[in-house]
Amino acid sequence: MTAYIEAAAAPLKNTGSIKIYNQADFDAMRNASQVTARCLDELSHIIKPGTSTQDIDDFVVEFGKAHDALPATLNYRGYRKSCCTSINHVVCHGIPNEKPMREGDIVNVDVTYVIDGWHGDSSRMYPVGQIKRAAERLIEVTYNALMLGIEAVKPGNTTGHIGEAIQVYAEAQRCSVVREFCGHGVGKLFHDAPNILHYGRAGEGPELRPGMIFTIEPMINLGRPSVKVLSDGWTAVTRDRSLTAQYEHSVGVTEDGCEIFTTSPSGYTLPPYV
Ligand code: MF3
Ligand code: CO
Ligand code: CO
Repeated sequence: MTAYIEAAAAPLKNTGSIKIYNQADFDAMRNASQVTARCLDELSHIIKPGTSTQDIDDFVVEFGKAHDALPATLNYRGYRKSCCTSINHVVCHGIPNEKPMREGDIVNVDVTYVIDGWHGDSSRMYPVGQIKRAAERLIEVTYNALMLGIEAVKPGNTTGHIGEAIQVYAEAQRCSVVREFCGHGVGKLFHDAPNILHYGRAGEGPELRPGMIFTIEPMINLGRPSVKVLSDGWTAVTRDRSLTAQYEHSVGVTEDGCEIFTTSPSGYTLPPYV
């Protein structure tokens, strides 16, 4: 069965046990996460037709320098950029490059800053200029799916309650849920136990307890759920090349629900981010 361990007493690695964090840890997570959220807020002003995903990466590097924040993805398992930028049929882990984005594209930017050793992990969707109604709808469904997953976070529920809330909603909207990637415990480690599946059934998976910290980051497709990873070893795309979207928050379980660490300081939810 699942083991839970006080984070302060746990080794700084993924042992499979679920870490329980204290109030000071929540304060530190909020602090790191709010820098990530501000970066994502500000990115909305530079993303337009002609912007390259490298421009986005450059912004993430500079914003990090200005806030004493280290991009966690830089040199993580051989990854060489400071964020992930996933356009259109790219599900996740798109690698920034110099190609200008075009009107009608949709792009996910996923940023994780490390401050005082704590990881604030969040991603959002951005429209590039005017986008199609189908793309707009997918973005809306994906955001709603994340927020419904977050509403299921409270002590006594299990990770399966989160997955079910996301899956039932997304599929009722005639969309599909990616299975190959999941949310994860986060804190002083980037990726820790438990896995947070974005599908499943209430009662499955470990019980949620106050003090747990993890991400929820559903990837939702307009077409079939299956994905493949390109030969660069990172870029994950939908096999049927259908449009896909993702939103991610880092959250902490409280006595009666959860705290969202990566909420937008500007109050941004869905685009347009104004
Ligand atoms: N930020 C991603 C996540 O949500 C992980 C990116 S790892 C990278 O878990 F190496 F691809 F950058
Ligand atoms: Co994550
Ligand atoms: Co992320």
